[in-house]
Amino acid sequence: MKKALILSGGQGTRLRPLTHTIAKQLVPVAGKPILGYVFDHICEAKIKKAGIIISPETGQDVKDYLGDGLPWNIKTHYIVQKKPLGLAHAVLSARSFLRDDDFVMYLGDNLLSSGVRTAIARFKKNKPDAMIFLKAVEDPRRFGVARLDSDGKVIELMEKPQNPPSNLALVGVYIFTKKIFDAIARIKPSKRGELEITDAIQELINMGYAVDSEILDGWWLDTGKKDDLLQANSIVLDEYIKNDIKGKIDVNSRTTGRVTIEPGSVVTNSNIRGPVKIGKNSTIENTFIGSFTSIGDNVTIKNSAIEHSVILDNAHIEGIERLEDSLIGRGAKVIKNAHQHTALRLMISDDSIVEV
Ligand code: DAU
Repeated sequence: MKKALILSGGQGTRLRPLTHTIAKQLVPVAGKPILGYVFDHICEAKIKKAGIIISPETGQDVKDYLGDGLPWNIKTHYIVQKKPLGLAHAVLSARSFLRDDDFVMYLGDNLLSSGVRTAIARFKKNKPDAMIFLKAVEDPRRFGVARLDSDGKVIELMEKPQNPPSNLALVGVYIFTKKIFDAIARIKPSKRGELEITDAIQELINMGYAVDSEILDGWWLDTGKKDDLLQANSIVLDEYIKNDIKGKIDVNSRTTGRVTIEPGSVVTNSNIRGPVKIGKNSTIENTFIGSFTSIGDNVTIKNSAIEHSVILDNAHIEGIERLEDSLIGRGAKVIKNAHQHTALRLMISDDSIVEV
């Protein structure tokens, strides 16, 4: 398999307000943008060329992060999709990059534990016309859903059905041959106005082509919403974080469990219970940082207790007795005012959520 198509366009409406200023595929999980994990998997599968679908709004940020793909030894080729008209539309936009080659399509906001290498090996062995990946989920209505027959063969696919025929969701990784273009040519935009890849795969089935499916063993996370992102952060921290302290910790501070602290960060009179990741040049003072928390670069946290949260670069948190299950954006400030007012004083951006 020579080519991958990474979908990194779209609007990211469900992650607003973060996505007013950042592409959703660049939101960090355990301190690393989601697209970084996607590229790790593509690299591990020894794929050397990636087409990356970008939007006019956030495309430059994606380019700034992935660049020419050199750290992964993958040649990047950017494709601007002017409007997010659907996943199948994104495939059409990449026609001149893909030509007639087989390719792996990977949604840039999906995180998988296991990567795509073994799946590609199976695809090469069985030579189906397309391959999809499934995972049992609690609420399949948020996803594409598959109905299988008793032999495990895919018989029907539906995008975000109100009455799901199974709990098997379509994971955001697909392997296609050029036949997908014939199927896309036959579908119409869905109710949400998008050319759906789910409909195109259904069309492949209707046309009599072989669509193989594989049920994923490991975890899979679509990072589309705040709670999904926090869950992704916890799982990735749990799996990958090592005890690696390059910053400074004073004698009055204590770390337990696995804690990574990048250079330039200073921890004073604080207690950190891993797994926790703290980026570069951050200041932590008189604070408790509890498990499953990721803190970015240049963050200041004083006199607070934080748990199960993601704090992005340049944020400032001070005097907050207990902050949990929270996602704090870049440069955001959460500060208890010095006066004993019970009134809140807020300056929050569009689409923010404050739970008091
Ligand atoms: O995450 C898995 C789900 O992804 C599947 O179960 C669904 O069947 C599939 O349709 C898709 O559903 P979403 O509604 O979650 O897709 P979303 O709009 O979030 O887009 C997925 C990725 O593709 C995201 O990184 C943005 C990018 N994208 C999206 C659209 C609509 C594009 O690059 N261009 C587009 O036109």
